Amino acid sequence: MKAIVYHQYGSPNALKLEEVQKPTPADNQLLISVHAVSLNRSDWEGLTGKPLYARIGGLFKPGNKILGSDIAGTVEAVGKEVKLFKPGDEVFGLMLNYGGGFAEYACKSEKALALKPAGMTFEEAAAIPQAAFIALQGIREKGQVQPGQKVLINGAGGGTGTFAIQLAKLAGAEVTGVDNAEKLELMRSLGADHVIDYTREEFTKNGKQYDLILDVIAHRSVFAYKRALKPDGSCFMVGGSVATMFQSLLLGPLIRRITGKNIKLLVVQTDSKDLVYITELIESGKVVLVIDKRYSLSEAAEALRYLGEGHAKGKVVITVEQNNKT
Ligand SMILES: NC(=O)c1ccc[n+]([C@@H]2O[C@H](COP(=O)([O-])OP(=O)(O)OC[C@H]3O[C@@H](n4cnc5c(N)ncnc54)[C@H](OP(=O)(O)O)[C@@H]3O)[C@@H](O)[C@H]2O)c1
Repeated sequence: MKAIVYHQYGSPNALKLEEVQKPTPADNQLLISVHAVSLNRSDWEGLTGKPLYARIGGLFKPGNKILGSDIAGTVEAVGKEVKLFKPGDEVFGLMLNYGGGFAEYACKSEKALALKPAGMTFEEAAAIPQAAFIALQGIREKGQVQPGQKVLINGAGGGTGTFAIQLAKLAGAEVTGVDNAEKLELMRSLGADHVIDYTREEFTKNGKQYDLILDVIAHRSVFAYKRALKPDGSCFMVGGSVATMFQSLLLGPLIRRITGKNIKLLVVQTDSKDLVYITELIESGKVVLVIDKRYSLSEAAEALRYLGEGHAKGKVVITVEQNNKT
């Protein structure tokens, strides 16, 4: 099969279209013919090997040579332990750990997989999983946002952020979105009550405080987050600098004991029920899917460059050509 492969950490130039062995599903896996795959910052991190946590699979060379974790496609075959899906089903889901989606076929378990709604395209379905899982956990499950609360989302114009703004508004919060100037209008259009251009204003130094901060690109000291939180407020860090994450692990519990403010890393759980829940919100028009650009598989390097250079507003999706598949 054709796949976009990389053998060294580096720039998008490291990505090459190659012929590789078609994967064989294990007993607990499905073989999926990939129709679309969306990009996440985790793909950029996996490509560049930065931050350091992106090298968990291989310190010096990528352990998994094919990026792409959010796929949508058709089930071709199932292992004998697979119970919920059958060949021909149209599915979408998340393959964690930077896994295998920039390809014509991929194997994955039933976990974090759901049937694609008939009214949704493969590209739309592929744009959902990772970003929606993070946003749902940050705003709803762990964040437990209540009407009238003040919520700040840092990195709100990207994949996770565009879902998070809308989920926080649905919960009745007053929402502040932080991102670069190119994305302010998008954040407003999704319902953000206030927007901040991070290149012009530091949200931890403007005297405002929030009940919840969801930071998808955390790089501040925990003391800065403490300053920006109301008493009993929570800050969840999803991605960002390793130093900030270590600080939150070391000092977060102490800050909580002394001040009641909760600063911690959010480790995202994946449950297929969340995929069903978010697709219902999308189908009912309560949440809008923001797809910025679409590319073909052979343009994967260009697509990742667009995301990595910070232009992507919402999601970037790759469509996998179905003709001439082996
Ligand atoms: N904790 C977990 O279990 C878990 C699981 C999966 C993924 N993750 C992580 O979650 C993160 C998800 O990110 P995503 O896919 O939503 O990223 P994304 O689509 O790239 O969005 C991030 C946004 O942040 C903006 N940004 C960059 N620097 C910023 C700054 N200093 N201040 C404010 N905004 C800034 C980016 O814009 P520009 O760059 O254009 O300025 C972009 O719009 C990744 O780091 C991933 O590794 C965590």
